[in-house]
Amino acid sequence: MEQERKIIIESEHVSKVFDTPDGEHEVVHDLNFSARENEFLVLFGPGQCGKTTIINMIAGFEQTSEGKIMAEGEKVEKPDISRGVVFQSISLFPWMTTMGNVEYGPKIAGVKKKERRERAQKYIDLVGLQGFENSFPNQLSGGMRQRVGIARAYCNEPRVMLMDEPFGALDAQTRYLMQEELQRIWSTEKRTVIFVTNNIEEALYLADRIIVLTSCPATVKKEYVIDLPRPRDLVSEEFLALRKEITGILDSSQWEGET
Ligand SMILES: Nc1ncnc2c1ncn2[C@@H]1O[C@H](COP(=O)(O)OP(=O)(O)OP(=O)(O)O)[C@@H](O)[C@H]1O
Ligand SMILES: [Mg+2]
Repeated sequence: MEQERKIIIESEHVSKVFDTPDGEHEVVHDLNFSARENEFLVLFGPGQCGKTTIINMIAGFEQTSEGKIMAEGEKVEKPDISRGVVFQSISLFPWMTTMGNVEYGPKIAGVKKKERRERAQKYIDLVGLQGFENSFPNQLSGGMRQRVGIARAYCNEPRVMLMDEPFGALDAQTRYLMQEELQRIWSTEKRTVIFVTNNIEEALYLADRIIVLTSCPATVKKEYVIDLPRPRDLVSEEFLALRKEITGILDSSQWEGET
C-alpha cells in the first residue's frame, strides 16, 4: 500500500472570534483538518461561512483565537514565502506589467534580475500568458488577470498554495477553462494546494479530497476522498452521483449552481 504522504498543513482545534460593535462573532469553530504533500485539498463551504478567514489564518495574515495552524511542524504566526496566496478578488499592482507583477516576489526577495526573469517567464508560460509580458492589468481580461495572480504566487515557488475562490468572479465559460488550466498546472508543478470554493462542480473537478464546511461558524461537516481519474468528466455517472451525495448533506440552498 502507498505510504501516507507527509502532512504539510495542519489545523488543530482552530477557532476564530471577531470583536464587533454587536459583540463577539465566532466565525470558525474547532476546525480540524490536515493537508498532505502535493495534495489538492478543497475546502467547500457556503457563502459567508468563514472560508477567507480560514485562508487568512493559514497564510498568517490573521491570528487564531484558539488552537493553532501548523505548517511543516511549525506554528504559523506570520506570513511566509513558503505559503503563496491567490486572492478572492484580483489583487495585481495596476501600475506593473504582467512581468512586473509576476517577478515582484523574487525581486523583493533579492533574486538577481536574470534569474528572476527566467523564473517569471517559466510561470507566465505555464499559465498561458506568453505574449502578454508587457501588458498592464487593465489591458487584460478577468481570466487573464487571475492567471497573472496564479503565476505571481507560483513564482515564489511556495510549498503550499492557498487559493481563495480564485475563479469566483469569472463568467461560467472562463471559469471552466481556468479549472482545466489549474488542473494541468497542478499536474505539471506539483504543490500542496488548499483551494476554497462554494461551487460543488469545481470542488469535484479539482480535488483529491473535499472537506465540507458547515455554515458560520465554519467547522468540518464531512470529508470525501475523490479518487476519480483526471481530467474528470463532469457528466460521468460517478461524478454526478458524488455531486448528488455531497449536495444532499447540505442543509441550505446557498450553494452555487444548486438553486
Ligand atoms: N475582520 C473582521 N472583523 C469582523 N468580522 C469579520 C472580519 N472578517 C470577516 N468577518 C466576518 O466573518 C464572517 C465570515 O467572513 P469570511 O470572509 O471569512 O467568509 P467567506 O466564507 O470567505 O465569505 P464569502 O463566501 O463571501 O467569500 C462574515 O460574517 C464576516 O462579516
Ligand atoms: Mg471569502
